[in-house]
Amino acid sequence: MDHALIGGARQRPCTLVACRGCCCGDPRKHPGTDHVGQLDRLRAAAAEHGFQVRTTDCLGPCDQANVIVVQPSAVGRRAGGRATWVGFAMDDDCTEEIVGWAAAGGPGLAEPPVTLELQFIRPPRGARARTGRR
Ligand code: FES
Repeated sequence: MDHALIGGARQRPCTLVACRGCCCGDPRKHPGTDHVGQLDRLRAAAAEHGFQVRTTDCLGPCDQANVIVVQPSAVGRRAGGRATWVGFAMDDDCTEEIVGWAAAGGPGLAEPPVTLELQFIRPPRGARARTGRR
């Protein structure tokens, strides 16, 4: 029952986990992308729309950098939403699509943009532990 959940568990918002490990976010490996600007944009949108952003060390699929995992909110998870991995998140269009999806509620609550779906990648084995949640 929803009312049995307390505080953070019930309210946990959609969360963007932006990989900033050995390859994602590294301008020497991926020049031409404003990696700092991407994080700034994600954080500004999170503050505006009520989702969360955090960074993490390498998630595994470095050849698909930048990797951003869109985790469902608590409500979205109960509605069937699951953590969704986005690869090649390098350009502004992709960043804006991720922002738009999270602002709309994220997995389980809103359909992702079709063009963003083309960038969904399969999580590597063991990824569940690294991103902290199922
Ligand atoms: S640094 Fe992001 S997947 Fe390895």
